[in-house]
Parts: sequence; C-alpha cells; structure tokens
Amino acid sequence: MSDFAKRALADRVHAVPPSGIRRFFDIAATMSDVISLGVGEPDFNTPAHIVEAAVTSLRAGRTHYTSNYGTIELRRAIAAKIQERSGVSYDPESEIIVTIGASEAVDLAVRGVIGAGDRIVLPEPSYVAYLPAVVFAGGTVVPVATSASDSWRLHDEAVDSAAAGAKALFLGYPANPTGATLDEPTREALAKIAVARDLVVISDEIYDRLVYEGAAHRAMSAYPGMRERTILIGGFSKSYAMTGWRVGFLCAPKEIVAGLVKIHQYAIMSAPTIAQDAALEALTNGEPALEEMRAAYARRRTIVLEGFAALNLPTGAPQGAFYAFPDIRSTGLTDEVFAERLLTEERVAVIPGSSFGASGVGHVRICYATSEENLREALVRIGRFVATARGVAA
Ligand SMILES: Cc1ncc(COP(=O)(O)O)c(C=O)c1O
Repeated sequence: MSDFAKRALADRVHAVPPSGIRRFFDIAATMSDVISLGVGEPDFNTPAHIVEAAVTSLRAGRTHYTSNYGTIELRRAIAAKIQERSGVSYDPESEIIVTIGASEAVDLAVRGVIGAGDRIVLPEPSYVAYLPAVVFAGGTVVPVATSASDSWRLHDEAVDSAAAGAKALFLGYPANPTGATLDEPTREALAKIAVARDLVVISDEIYDRLVYEGAAHRAMSAYPGMRERTILIGGFSKSYAMTGWRVGFLCAPKEIVAGLVKIHQYAIMSAPTIAQDAALEALTNGEPALEEMRAAYARRRTIVLEGFAALNLPTGAPQGAFYAFPDIRSTGLTDEVFAERLLTEERVAVIPGSSFGASGVGHVRICYATSEENLREALVRIGRFVATARGVAA
C-alpha cells in the first residue's frame, strides 16, 4: 500500500482485514467446473410471483423514493408477520425501518448503539460482518466461544460472565456459519441476563424461517423485558431467495427507531422501491414457495450430514440456516490449507472456518443451498481429497 493510501485511510479501516470469503470467490471465479459450497445464498431464483410484482411496480412508475422508513404497506406486512409468528407487536408507523438488506440493518444497529470504547458480547464463530461493524463503530467485541464438541451451543453462563461491563449483546441465530439455533430455555435464560445486566440486544434473525427437525424459532424480542431493549433484524434474502433485491428491516421501540432512522435517512434515503414492493408480495403470498424451498434445504441438509458422517468429519447437527460446519482437523490440514487445496485439487469451494473468528479454526463452512446432484458430486470429491490428505486410499 502506498504511503498516501496508508495516511488516507482511517486507523479503524486498517484494523479490519479484507473478507476471507471474498478471496475464495475471487480464486473460484477464475476456474471452471467448480462446485461452489462457498457463497451463502439460495441457489433458487426469486419465485415468479414476486418477480411479477416488481415488474408491475416498475410499469406503474414506482421509480421514486419511498418514505425513509420504507413503504407503509411493507411495514404493516412486516409487523403482521412478526405478530403472527412470535406474538410481538410493532407499530408500523414508528417502530420499523426497511433497510438495504439485513446488512444495512446490522450496520445501522451497531453504529446506532456502539460508540467509542463500548463493549458488545458476540458469540463466536459468527457471521463475518458483525465484528467489522463493531470495529468501524469504535467499539470492542467480547467474544463468547462456542464449540463443535457440544454442537455450537451457546451457554448462557458464558454470556453472563462476558457481559460484565458490556453495553450490548449481539445474537445471530439461526447461525451463520454453524447452523446452530437457540433452544427455548437458552432464549429465556439470555433474556433474563439481558434484563439483569441492562443490555441492548441486537438480534439478527435473517434465517428465522429456515429451521429443521422441529426446531422452532421465536423472536428474541418476544421474551419478558426484551421488547424494549431489542433491535430485531430480519430480511428477505434467504427465506424468499431475494439476495439481489437488497431489502431487509429492523424493528425496535419507537425512541430507538427515531435515533436509528437518523443514520438511515442521511446515509441511505430509502431501500429500493420496486424491491420493497416485491418484498410485500413475498410476505403476502410467498408462503408456499418458501415452504418448498425450505423442504429442499431440509433434504439437502440430510445428504450433507450423512455424507460428512460417512467421511468421519464431525459436523454436529445444525438445525438452522443452510450451513454445515464440519471439523476437518483429522485431515492434519489447517482450515485455510484445506479450503485452498480442495479448491485447486478437487474444484470444490468451501470457506475456511477461521474467517468466522478464532473458534472457527479447524472447520470449514459448507453452504448446502445447491442442487442435490452438486452436493453428491461435491461429497465424492471431498471424500477423495480427505482420503489423500489422511494418506489412505479413497
Ligand atoms: C447472518 C446474516 N445476516 C445478514 C446477512 C446479510 O443479508 P442481506 O442480504 O439481507 O443483506 C447475511 C448474509 O449472508 C447473513 O448470513
């Protein structure tokens, strides 16, 4: 980097390393015949009725800004869905902001809550964007390690001790990269800790609809004492296969939203209008397509979990999102080398676990949002690679 660039960029920008995920995409993009289990997005196209709603919106001339908060119709639909699914009520007029994906909501929530020197508790391994958002805001992350040996369970006692002196708690469940979910007793215990320690809770629940094997999701703001202290984040990218539309949302008590919307209105103006109209259609009529996609992920999850079990790569039993996070230490390789060699030797892209924090070391993230055929072929290739690495015949 030139001296000028070094001086030009702020210290907090230098403090954040470039995304480890991006590097792998860039390598994979230069190769042919790669099966990508890397990128964390649905392989499905957006359901046709949602696309049609956007086309209609565009044809109707809806090419202007909306309210900073988003269209009132979409905010009403978001409020109704949360009420129906988790029993929490938010006022669509003043307690919801429609954002540019859940990504903007994460940034908005963290920037709005965390100031210089503030501490925020963050379970680890965690989605790559959380920690940089805190660093950019001048805050400090207090990590709470979780481990494969007990299926990435978040222990409330560990959160409680990490929370001493902290201002906030960041939760991201169902989790990227582990697929872990929070069970009801853990959610209750976390809520009690948040209340007792007077924490702000930022809860990214973008994978709320993608849970399997009877795991049930309930918004963190639904627990006693939580509505007033929680910034609830959600989105459309994962459940409705709408990553490219860039629409998400956050919900919080009125006075908190009044603060957060200041950042949003000066930085963003509004989320894309036609994408908001598409998201409204998703919430209104999207349930059958969502259920079909969820059922497909459930079948793929079984293929992947059985495949890794057969290869003796311990994976736990992820119950949410569309990720598995197998332990690859038995191959004798680091997660970085494993991912790099698997890509160059067998043309399968996965993400090294260390990209998600220190507790991800020795694991790789597999996104199973791809066809069953791709998954089966990827498992054959991974099997061959693992056998070579272990020095045994495949
Ligand atoms: C946990 C988590 N939160 C937020 C996002 C960003 O979602 P969006 O596309 O809505 O910005 C992702 C995307 O991978 C994610 O995994």
